[in-house]
Amino acid sequence: MKISVVTLFPELYKPFFSTSLVKRAQDAHIIDTHVYNLFSYAEPKQRIDGPTFGHGAGMVIKPEIIEKAVTDIQGQHGSAFKIFFSPRGKKLDQKLLGNLYKRMLEQEKDHLMLLPARYEGMDARIETEYADEIISIGDFVLMGGDVPAMVFIEGLLRFIPAIVGKSESVEQDSFSGPFVDYPEYTTPVMWKGHEVPELLRSGNHKAIADWRHQEVARESVLHHFEWVRGYPHVTPEQEHLIQKNIPAHYVVLMHSDVLVSQDKVNTKVGTTSVTSLDIHDIARSCTTYGIKNYFIVTPLIDQQVIVKTLLGFWQEGPGISYNNYRHEALSNVILETNLDNVIAQITQREGKVPVLIATAAKKGTHQRLINFFDQERVWSCERPVLIVLGTGRGLTPELIERCDYRLVPIEGFSSFNHLSVRSAAAVLFDRWLGKNPKRAL
Ligand SMILES: C[S@@+](CC[C@H](N)C(=O)[O-])C[C@H]1O[C@@H](n2cnc3c(N)ncnc32)[C@H](O)[C@@H]1O
Repeated sequence: MKISVVTLFPELYKPFFSTSLVKRAQDAHIIDTHVYNLFSYAEPKQRIDGPTFGHGAGMVIKPEIIEKAVTDIQGQHGSAFKIFFSPRGKKLDQKLLGNLYKRMLEQEKDHLMLLPARYEGMDARIETEYADEIISIGDFVLMGGDVPAMVFIEGLLRFIPAIVGKSESVEQDSFSGPFVDYPEYTTPVMWKGHEVPELLRSGNHKAIADWRHQEVARESVLHHFEWVRGYPHVTPEQEHLIQKNIPAHYVVLMHSDVLVSQDKVNTKVGTTSVTSLDIHDIARSCTTYGIKNYFIVTPLIDQQVIVKTLLGFWQEGPGISYNNYRHEALSNVILETNLDNVIAQITQREGKVPVLIATAAKKGTHQRLINFFDQERVWSCERPVLIVLGTGRGLTPELIERCDYRLVPIEGFSSFNHLSVRSAAAVLFDRWLGKNPKRAL
């Protein structure tokens, strides 16, 4: 593969191209690198940049300079797959790298041209005209695109057979599938009080492979859940490992310890009535997201009778044959008289007290306010999780304070925030536990 780079700082690439695997790939004629100075495409005294149109700070690279460079370099090495770099570009990850490598092969391009910018970037028309892809290496702004270009080269070259010694190291790379790579160890066996796991020294290949399988799933779910849930193709075995490593989740819908309307403005602590819609819909959402049980808390005897009748129909009565899916979802519903009993049941079943997450439609304070990306923080406690939902005007401030965490409200870009609890439950289960496949591989 021919790699050409058009840059304002060619000297940056000398050490890069003459070191490590990139050098070896050149020595072995697997890649052939060429670095061009963008200034060499300007006429004497011609500037390569110009002020941006409209008010704005900084200078941008002129289109005709890039045009000259592209024409000249393609004339020498053939039509190129052209990559530009910008913080506004597509976020680089292993999937995108793999996709781009595949696209190059499909287009039978063996010439990769990288065009890192400087100043405020390039005239936008250049990218429109030439870019096969515009890449960002993260949500931050660097001085220029040269480091991103080197990052891109390092990542892409790993896909080319024979550059990295063993192809299996590439296949098992972190982010090649839904999981990160497993942790690796070498001698000494004991270092600063940390021991290499005994099993890895056992020579039992099957046991080691199993351990690695478990370990990659555990690590990935805990520390890289956004990646795991975003991976588009998980095998049933991987799905099982993911499920196993998400801590047990429970949900409780409180009809006591909630605020109820006194008049249009004021609220008081009270008790609400159970609604069958909340029982059905939240049960179905819970089962969809792998939540083990859905507790309905009401201290009122007459309300308990209603819930028991409904649950009896679906859990043991004609509901089983009437709609088996509904039966399956409603089998996970448990009636309780207060929150302490719910906590006690979960503690008994899981052997650990659950972490309580309060939910509220209103913005509010809490010592531990979390958002929908804080799974790692909660899950690293290695305890079951109980999501606490309110009815009426929401959970009382005392109950919210009692919880270990308070989740930020679900909000749209509007001033209206009056979701029903069953709608809010579905949205928040999805944001907290749901799959969220990104682009296809
Ligand atoms: C100073 S930056 C221009 C920043 C520009 N004002 C913006 O916010 O998008 C100059 C050049 O550095 C490169 N660059 C900076 N940060 C980058 C990032 N996170 N990913 C890829 N390229 C980046 C791009 O080539 C960019 O045009």
